[in-house]
Amino acid sequence: MNRQPPVVLITGCSSGFGLHTAIAFASRGCRVIATLRDLGRAQTLLDGANRAGCAGRIVCMELDVTNHEQAGSVIQRAQLEFGGIDIIVNNAGYALGGFAEEVPIERWRELLETNVLGVIALTQAALPGMRARGRGLIINISSISGLLGLPGFAPYAASKYALEGYSESLRHELAPWGIRVVLVEPGAYSTDIWSKGLSAVREDAAADSPYAPQLVRLLARTRAAAERAADPREVAEAVVRIAGKRLPQLRYPIGRGTRLAVLAKALLPWRLYEAIVQRMLR
Ligand SMILES: NC(=O)c1ccc[n+]([C@@H]2O[C@H](COP(=O)([O-])OP(=O)(O)OC[C@H]3O[C@@H](n4cnc5c(N)ncnc54)[C@H](OP(=O)(O)O)[C@@H]3O)[C@@H](O)[C@H]2O)c1
Repeated sequence: MNRQPPVVLITGCSSGFGLHTAIAFASRGCRVIATLRDLGRAQTLLDGANRAGCAGRIVCMELDVTNHEQAGSVIQRAQLEFGGIDIIVNNAGYALGGFAEEVPIERWRELLETNVLGVIALTQAALPGMRARGRGLIINISSISGLLGLPGFAPYAASKYALEGYSESLRHELAPWGIRVVLVEPGAYSTDIWSKGLSAVREDAAADSPYAPQLVRLLARTRAAAERAADPREVAEAVVRIAGKRLPQLRYPIGRGTRLAVLAKALLPWRLYEAIVQRMLR
């Protein structure tokens, strides 16, 4: 039987993991639907794809994941033009830091709309097609922040923990239909996420905040982590490798120190673990 190359739909392809994952899949012969909320920002992706010789296998479509109607239309168009979607990479997202007491509720809401409800809505739109074909793979880009709640990043941790719980339940629900659900949990990688997240923290901080000393340390630590962050292509390659597995696991923590941090939380006595984490902002 002459099977067509897999069709992969990825959200948030203007930069970072989304951009590199689109190129990595297309370079392996997959047909890629790269979605961006602003098609005017597709040039970096297209330049990279041209250099890799795979631009002909990438189609860009506009999708703001908070616009659920648009998500439905993108899925419909993808099914009409490509005959179905084999893999979805729910990647679009951002980090929001700040101290939980001080982050305005509206900021929490916007974050959850993107990092959680955006994933749920796009997945809901795609599932009838996947169930009808009896196959599919959903890869949700979570984070080490979906496994550890760090001080100064409660909103981000809340969004990624929600994604983790959702994905775990979904995996059980979809197993009988031949559809797999996977979580990729990266540590620190060098993408635009750091500059975007840091600017939001600064904007929200009140000058007379009781958390001001911790905030200074948080910003310094975050800046240092951003400087040491690894090459995001590592995550893109890992996503492609995971997609090639017949029976992928639920969770894939990736990156320097990620597994160690998860193990430390699981194995150390809680008081010791807590003391280590709290020392970060002292
Ligand atoms: N980099 C890391 O260290 C790291 C670690 C763990 C997990 N992650 C996760 O990895 C994913 C990708 O982040 P990244 O590091 O590659 O950062 P990035 O370079 O900032 O990329 C984020 C992408 O998401 C898009 N996006 C944001 N809100 C959107 C919306 N409402 N609708 C559609 N697209 C939207 C952005 O589009 P615009 O360009 O239009 O803003 C951008 O294309 C995120 O889910 C993030 O939480 C990153």
